[in-house]
Amino acid sequence: MIIISLLLLASLLPHLTFTARVNVGIVNGSEAKPHSRPYMVSVQSKEHHICGGFLISDRFVMTAAHCRNNSPIVTVVLGAHDLKKSENSVRFTVHSYHQHPNYTNKSFHDDILLLKLEKNVKLNDNIKWISIPAEEGDIEAGSVCSIAGWGSLITNGTRSDRLMETNVKVMNNTECEHKWGKNDFSSSQMMCVHDKGGSCDGDSGGPLVCGDTAVGVTSFGDPDLCNSLKLPEVYIKISAYLPWIKKIIGNFN
Ligand SMILES: *[C@@H]1O[C@H](CO)[C@@H](O)[C@H](O)[C@H]1NC(C)=O
Ligand SMILES: *[C@@H]1O[C@H](CO)[C@@H](O)[C@H](O)[C@H]1NC(C)=O
Ligand SMILES: *[C@@H]1O[C@H](CO)[C@@H](O)[C@H](O)[C@H]1NC(C)=O
Ligand SMILES: *[C@@H]1O[C@H](CO)[C@@H](O)[C@H](O)[C@H]1NC(C)=O
Ligand SMILES: *[C@@H]1O[C@H](CO)[C@@H](O)[C@H](O)[C@H]1NC(C)=O
Repeated sequence: MIIISLLLLASLLPHLTFTARVNVGIVNGSEAKPHSRPYMVSVQSKEHHICGGFLISDRFVMTAAHCRNNSPIVTVVLGAHDLKKSENSVRFTVHSYHQHPNYTNKSFHDDILLLKLEKNVKLNDNIKWISIPAEEGDIEAGSVCSIAGWGSLITNGTRSDRLMETNVKVMNNTECEHKWGKNDFSSSQMMCVHDKGGSCDGDSGGPLVCGDTAVGVTSFGDPDLCNSLKLPEVYIKISAYLPWIKKIIGNFN
């Protein structure tokens, strides 16, 4: 009886709980030139970095919904490079949380969240927003894009105080779907990347940047290894969410 109910329980629990890791640093990257990515945001709980994020207008930060699973209340730090130093940076509280309505903490589907800040951000050389795609569409496999974050420098290692970055290559979606399986990976709503460097714990919520546009949100990866080729890092595809985003932030550009 006990065995049966345990089995039943196990079969009800989503596969993802056991296979995916929450992404929170950049492995094999290099330190970003201070303030060269003025849209980067540190999402914090009790003044500790928990996730990345990025400014997409003078009022909204985009990040990953799972960042709030354990910390429902967050603040954001804009204009930072070294999180240990507060010069140039400014902390905002969140006026309202706009989690994608289909997100649940049981999977990484629709892992996207908009934070409306308490007031409009005063833009300057260190604080600027980044564009998101204007229309739906995929980034061609093989494209070289970049990611940045304050997450771990090696798997299970310590996080970085200074913003790190690396280039990454967009992977073929069919290939990624084969690796993760159709339950965990949705090729219409996600994309994966792989290269020498990649994201790690603490980088979640940060942007995948192609050209001058944020096209993805850092979401999940191999639970045992950052930047794994067996289970590559997965990003939420922003262009699949444009109607929802526009409804919330209005006409932003
Ligand atoms: C870092 O780069 C080295 C050299 O290219 C590579 O052998 C190693 O697998 C990379 N490490 C990670 C975690 O990606
Ligand atoms: C997941 O969400 C459910 C329903 O909102 C909540 O009861 C539960 O505590 C959450 N679990 C975690 C791990 O956040
Ligand atoms: C949520 O999922 C339902 C069912 O798949 C879908 O019809 C709906 O459009 C989704 N909501 C949003 C805001 O994308
Ligand atoms: C992805 O790879 C599959 C087979 O592995 C191939 O059929 C498909 O054309 C590739 N797609 C792109 C966009 O390169
Ligand atoms: C990281 O920690 C997890 C959980 O303790 C472990 O399963 C995994 O093998 C570790 N990975 C590395 C590369 O040390």
